[in-house]
Amino acid sequence: MKVIILENAYEISKQAAEIFIKQINKKPGSVLGFATGASPVETYKRIIESYEKGEVSLKHITTFNLDEYADLDRENVNSYYYFMKDNLFGKTDVDFNKVNFLAGVKHEDAEAECKRYYEKIKEEGGIDIQLLGIGTNGHIGFNEPGEEFMDTPFLVKLTQSTIDSNKKYFEAVGTEMPGYALTMGVGDIMRSKKIVLIATGASKAKAIKELIEGEVTPHCPASILKLHSDVTVFLDKESASLLGDR
Ligand code: GLP
Repeated sequence: MKVIILENAYEISKQAAEIFIKQINKKPGSVLGFATGASPVETYKRIIESYEKGEVSLKHITTFNLDEYADLDRENVNSYYYFMKDNLFGKTDVDFNKVNFLAGVKHEDAEAECKRYYEKIKEEGGIDIQLLGIGTNGHIGFNEPGEEFMDTPFLVKLTQSTIDSNKKYFEAVGTEMPGYALTMGVGDIMRSKKIVLIATGASKAKAIKELIEGEVTPHCPASILKLHSDVTVFLDKESASLLGDR
């Protein structure tokens, strides 16, 4: 794992965006995996700025997002589809026909939806670069800490820690946060050719220490990234604050 510690989120976003922009300019039809949450927002802003300057076009990329809340319409302001439209896709020339998402279906339809998504990633030849954030509990996508690593997309019951971190977005619009989500499995993430993870702020410090210095265990799902041959982890000083001398 390549660990890069930078001054702040802005510096991280410039370098992370550059990785994606270079990839797209090298291969306009790249298959890119995107993430939601606060961590990637700055990076998306830098990609939009480059797009506006005519330095990159997203027209031919195919996208796959990591996860989506269960039983939530994609036009809901808190859906991850809406988030991506708002923070990246809608502000660039992304072709929405090439945007792929796990649909926020009801529980009874989750199995078929997960299978469809797995097949679609395979059909597109896999993901060239997957962008990741990390949960305060070490989750990636919505792979929560547990007894085993999940390989392919699945329906997950969210942990209390994740609900505590994310419920503010739902409370802000007076709705209740779904207790379940559909997510790529750890296996889907690991099959990506390249992985870029971004973490900022002191709330991520413990998860980052486990990711970088701990053993590989499903109790910290992100820890499996150690076994991937091309992972870049971008940290700010706060998220790196518990790491030993490097
Ligand atoms: C969310 C998402 C993850 C994201 C993580 C961190 O719940 N499912 O994909 O990486 O939690 O979010 P944030 O970047 O807002 O801290």
